[in-house]
Amino acid sequence: MESLAHLLNNNREWAAAQVAEDPQFFARLANQQSPEYLWIGCSDSRVPANQITGLAPGEVFVHRNVANVVVQTDFNMLSVLQFAVDVLKVKHVIVCGHYGCGGVRAALENQRHGIVDNWLRHIRNTARRWEDELMALDHERAVDRLCELNVLANAKNLARTTIIEVAWERGQPVGVHSWIYRLDTGRIQALDHQIKGIKGIKD
Ligand code: CO
Repeated sequence: MESLAHLLNNNREWAAAQVAEDPQFFARLANQQSPEYLWIGCSDSRVPANQITGLAPGEVFVHRNVANVVVQTDFNMLSVLQFAVDVLKVKHVIVCGHYGCGGVRAALENQRHGIVDNWLRHIRNTARRWEDELMALDHERAVDRLCELNVLANAKNLARTTIIEVAWERGQPVGVHSWIYRLDTGRIQALDHQIKGIKGIKD
């Protein structure tokens, strides 16, 4: 079995460098976390939340899955969201997709991939809803447009969870944001104005 000594070595060097720069860094983080942001993104290894937003450990709470899907029946996501909103009191929830997403691409194609097809069904439903617009584009443009539509649909789903609805009802300010990341430039684009309350959901 391949040894992962290089990763453990990287970790030792990283921890030492953090302490050299800020001796209290880990002591402070060990006591508590108080991130202002919850990131819901794709599991894709090229879209690491902390690095692409310049945030340090402790500054962003993270949930990632295949194609950054948000559905109200996902107890994993709901558990993360409830802790982030009710306990950590994050001020912003960011749904961030990325262009060229393999999960979104798979959802547009007619091949069987196994169990993940059940997960991708949510994206297929979005594709069906916007079929006319997508059919008018060439395949690569259609994949990228569906990446955007998927983010927007999931941000709306997020805003319709009981966790966000109840937070808004009690006057807790939580913004819901729709972002998309471009792999070939490293840049994030905001797709829509943030949703600040129940009236901000357009349909
Ligand atoms: Co992806």
